[in-house]
Amino acid sequence: MSYLSTKDFLADKDFVDRWQYTLRSGELDLSWMRAGTEKVECKPQNARRGLTFRDLDVPGYGYTTMPELARENRSFAPRGAEIPAGCPDLQAEVNRKSEVWAYNVEGYYEEAMSRQWNATTDVPWAELIEAKLPDDVARAYSQLLTFLTEVEMIATDVPCKWLGRLNADFFEVKNFIATQAMDEARHAEIFRKRALSTGWGLMRASAQNEFNLKFLRDADSFAEASLALHLQAEGMVLTLFRFSEYISPTDGDKKLFRLVMQDEARHVGYGMQHLKWVLDHFPEKRELIHHHLDEAENFVFGGGYATEVLEPFIILSGKGLKKENVAQGVRITLAFQMKQTEEYFERLAKCGMPERRDRSRLWKMLELNKQALGVAA
Ligand SMILES: [Fe+2]
Ligand SMILES: [Fe+2]
Repeated sequence: MSYLSTKDFLADKDFVDRWQYTLRSGELDLSWMRAGTEKVECKPQNARRGLTFRDLDVPGYGYTTMPELARENRSFAPRGAEIPAGCPDLQAEVNRKSEVWAYNVEGYYEEAMSRQWNATTDVPWAELIEAKLPDDVARAYSQLLTFLTEVEMIATDVPCKWLGRLNADFFEVKNFIATQAMDEARHAEIFRKRALSTGWGLMRASAQNEFNLKFLRDADSFAEASLALHLQAEGMVLTLFRFSEYISPTDGDKKLFRLVMQDEARHVGYGMQHLKWVLDHFPEKRELIHHHLDEAENFVFGGGYATEVLEPFIILSGKGLKKENVAQGVRITLAFQMKQTEEYFERLAKCGMPERRDRSRLWKMLELNKQALGVAA
């Protein structure tokens, strides 16, 4: 029932009479006490860990027995509650478990909740600001931080876009995605704060990167968005963070990247466990996944080669702009880019797609790069 105004509400005589009668007479209806639901008393399996989502995985409420198609519930009714007639149809777009589910998704949520950190207080800001960086290095760092802020802003928008489109029955996934949005918002915060504390501020946004990022936002389905975001983009960013930690100008900056990495590893973990789950339960989707990856690889991998990312990376890895610094920077950056591609294919192999190497132009590109640079394949 919905009412546009108080007048409409008062005009619903049945409802108003019942409500006023209850208050006047004190006679209660109590039909909700006879809800046809399972009586349960869930307990922590491990008292030290506390009551987890896994402890609630019992008949009538659990996720193990949840059907592939969330057909029954179209409303906000929490899974396991009685759904009376007349609940609104929320028209959720994603109603298939296979589109969202991942092994251990409930564990990823619990981990996210217990490992939240604070960008305002967990980084030694005073120490970072005191460590004056050489101008070229500081400017390159500010440029890298500008790029990372752009990346994290889109990484916040994508889970938020899908959160309300998932059927309410998938609430473990929805909760996980909510923590992801919070993590990404904190990443955008920490990179912005660091850029504005280098003495230079932000540098230049990148059109090339933004087109790649827009592709992530515009994916047609959650399955595509998740492959492109959780598995590809965030996997790529995870390698980028590891290298960024390595080339960071101060120990405080290394700490900053370590904090961000622990969240990013969890997001990639969800993407991998989701893909594994789909391949295990719906092997017929393999071809479709290859098709999505073909498309996403075109866009996602272009980002790392944009001038606004490549050049600051070279300067930071070589620790300056002198000829010998740049030569050293180019060597490290090439090693990073090759590692990034290799790790992407390693992740896919771990998920059960070792054949992706032979199907992808990226793998061919990596081999060509190795040949050109005289690196052993
Ligand atoms: Fe992030
Ligand atoms: Fe992330």
